[in-house]
Amino acid sequence: MKFNIRDFDKVYNRRDTNSLKWDSYPKSDLPMWVADMDFKCPEDILKELELVVKQGILGYPLLEDARYFRSVINWFNNYHNINIDRENIIPVIGVMSALNSIIEEFTNENDTIVIQSPVYFGIINEINFYKRNLVYSLLNYNEDEGYTMDYSHLNELKKVKPKLLILCSPHNPVGRVWSKRELEKIGDFCLENNVLLVVDEIHCDLILEKFNFTSYASLDQKYLKNTIIMNSSTKTFNIAGLRGGNVFVFDKKIKDTLTMRFNHYGLSKLNSFFVAATIVGYSSCRSWHELLLKYINQNYQFVRNFIKNEIPTLKVSPLEGTYLVWINYQQLNIPESIFFKELEKNIIVAKGSEFGPGGEGFFRINIACPLDTLKEAFHFLKIHINSFKFL
Ligand SMILES: Cc1ncc(COP(=O)(O)O)c(C=O)c1O
Repeated sequence: MKFNIRDFDKVYNRRDTNSLKWDSYPKSDLPMWVADMDFKCPEDILKELELVVKQGILGYPLLEDARYFRSVINWFNNYHNINIDRENIIPVIGVMSALNSIIEEFTNENDTIVIQSPVYFGIINEINFYKRNLVYSLLNYNEDEGYTMDYSHLNELKKVKPKLLILCSPHNPVGRVWSKRELEKIGDFCLENNVLLVVDEIHCDLILEKFNFTSYASLDQKYLKNTIIMNSSTKTFNIAGLRGGNVFVFDKKIKDTLTMRFNHYGLSKLNSFFVAATIVGYSSCRSWHELLLKYINQNYQFVRNFIKNEIPTLKVSPLEGTYLVWINYQQLNIPESIFFKELEKNIIVAKGSEFGPGGEGFFRINIACPLDTLKEAFHFLKIHINSFKFL
């Protein structure tokens, strides 16, 4: 039967399925934190995985198999309108594993790494793990319009001589899809100051209606030579449990260095299920993906309207990309510890402070779930917000 957008309405029980999202918080009603979706992945992917299981021998997959690389190249060409050559792609078992290797390989202890906060906590944690000098450049925030980059602050950071700048594009958690001009300005800063730029594009296929994603790979050649781009099919088709992704590199020296490092750690040995799922996802799940984006868009409209009409003390940042909504509760004027202690009895959301400076007084909620689940979560949220008003 043909997949229909209403199929995303189906609620599945994910408890006791070894789900990080659902089984980490058995006492809370609704986990809405980590970035995976409560939707089944496309039927074509599931069928392909069944075939892998049926043939029954799960030895090492051959990645030189042209099908894998062709599916990646075609997806980025057809869907994002960029030309990537086979030589520019290095497979990797996960975006964060790629980032670790990049930090390890291209920086030393106490070297400066710049990130624009608030930003995905995985990036912050890795920089701290490696004891690099983490320097934040805060994004500018406007309650109605959301976030922009602070170029004048960034320019001042010349003096701390950054080795690396890590850009999240689309941005998790603030939901921005950066424009070509914004990306070029970051690129100019990196070129002028000899900074290696790492662009995390893992959410690149999750773009809301009326917005267009510009991959950093589509910029003028001059911007690419000191750049490493990371992406994956895992967020796109909800297959994060299969682990995998790709790095795009355009400079031969950087590519050779990273390839050696990935090989050393076995990071380019993707698993058979990820390879099979990605080939099918990128090759034949475009219509499922279109419906997914429509559904996320509808969920986002529900969130906006609900907050506007029912809990106007909260402010929603405009969502352009990702399925992660960034919400400001500063008007309540209560400490984060109190806010979350009560809320977590019913809903688990990601705490703003985990996303670095600029995150205090915010939370991030994952809206990639059936509408009924979302409605239930916002029903709980309204009860809690009303109770906080009287504290
Ligand atoms: C911006 C960003 N980068 C990377 C990751 C994790 O990627 P991986 O699971 O491939 O390590 C996430 C997961 O939510 C993310 O939001």
